[in-house]
Amino acid sequence: KDESTVSITVVGASGDLAKKKIFPALFALYYEGCLPKHFTIFGYARSKMTDAELRNMVSKTLACRIDKRENCGEKIDQFLKRCFYHSGQYDSQENFAELDKKLKEHEGGRVSNRLFYLSIPPKVIVEKPFGRDSDSSAALTKALKQYLEEDQIFRIDHYLGKELVENLSVLRFSNLIFEPLWSRQYIRNVQLIFSEDFGTEGRGGYFDNYGILRDIMQNHLLQILALFAMETPVSLDAEDIRNEKVKVLRSMRPLQLEDVVVGQYKSHTKGGVAYPAYIDDNTVPKGSLTPTFAAAALFIDNARWDGVPFLMKAGKALHKKRAEIRVQFRHVPGNLYNQNFETDLDQATNELIIRVQPDEAIDLKINNKQGPSNNILNANELGVPFVDIRKEIPDAYERLLLDAIEGERRLFIRSDELDAAWALFTPVLKELEEKNIIPEYYPYGSRGPVGAHYLAARYNVRWGDLGI
Ligand code: BG6
Repeated sequence: KDESTVSITVVGASGDLAKKKIFPALFALYYEGCLPKHFTIFGYARSKMTDAELRNMVSKTLACRIDKRENCGEKIDQFLKRCFYHSGQYDSQENFAELDKKLKEHEGGRVSNRLFYLSIPPKVIVEKPFGRDSDSSAALTKALKQYLEEDQIFRIDHYLGKELVENLSVLRFSNLIFEPLWSRQYIRNVQLIFSEDFGTEGRGGYFDNYGILRDIMQNHLLQILALFAMETPVSLDAEDIRNEKVKVLRSMRPLQLEDVVVGQYKSHTKGGVAYPAYIDDNTVPKGSLTPTFAAAALFIDNARWDGVPFLMKAGKALHKKRAEIRVQFRHVPGNLYNQNFETDLDQATNELIIRVQPDEAIDLKINNKQGPSNNILNANELGVPFVDIRKEIPDAYERLLLDAIEGERRLFIRSDELDAAWALFTPVLKELEEKNIIPEYYPYGSRGPVGAHYLAARYNVRWGDLGI
């Protein structure tokens, strides 16, 4: 009807598709007489542009079909007069309200049919599990890539959004005192520890198909390891950082069965309260061997880390909830004070502790004289607490969602990173399942199976979190 109008808003109007396809198609509909008498086209995008600039940009791609060439220039002019531009953010209510105002002016009180063409790249945030081994992960990536480009896929690993994990690079690359020590020359071993003081409680249906190695190690802990061990990236750009992470992952030896200890929690009664076993969860299949705890020793075969054990430990239903990175430094060669330590020498080495959660902090164990009246040395912690300074730290998901909205990919997992991560874990996961390896049972709320200590001892390592 003459009194109705159509308002078409092309969101993403400064892009290639709008220029090459959408405006030419709208123009063809116009000269074919398919658009109503009253219509308005608005381009909307983030770039700053005037109406004239939009018209100029669009005019270059408008053409009439052979049988409609007559007066083509005139038709283009007529059409362009109906095209306008409004610049705004895609997530700004205010900018869309401005657009609404302009649309109303053009609609002149007529009944309007508004059409919004979202010509903007979609982004898809994918939550783990990203498959359960190399093959299923590759199939998932292939399926995603049928519809999306790499830079539209945001694989989330929420540990990368945690403040102290973000701060790891700051610690390394903007403090002179750490980076020179960051290698096999000074570091004896690195420990990545995750523990929770609750079980799978109702999540058993998901968990049982994955287990702790896939749930925590192959992603969260391995990501932290890659950030910890990577070379200095060229810049803080997503691709530069991810390039370095991939290099670390690809320099690692696939995890060996003898370097893994698996456990599963069993019921335990403490203070009159009975805590259930993993298999008591009614979402868990009877007799399941799925590990709820694992310890692993990993190695990076490159010049910086050759021979340094990276020990991981992750478990559910343990005595504490925490995530931390512990860096144990080498002994002081020919230490003059060897006799003066109360504890054994192992305890006397410097240790850097990055407490990811809770009580976010960075602590450094330094040896000190106990006091003026004796010559006994012991370790004090030099600490940088984060909580006091920052008050409340936003949840990791908040940061990551905002990054995804803004198209910032630095903290998301790239396909080749994911492939490399799976390549390290897939063989041992298959072996554990094929050989039906029985997990070591540990009581709910305990420190986990003793096997973890034997594993560490094989590499001359003592877990740093024992006394806590
Ligand atoms: C998830 C795991 O990725 O991380 C859960 O699937 C685990 O099993 C959770 O509980 C831990 O996250 P956070 O942030 O609470 O340490």
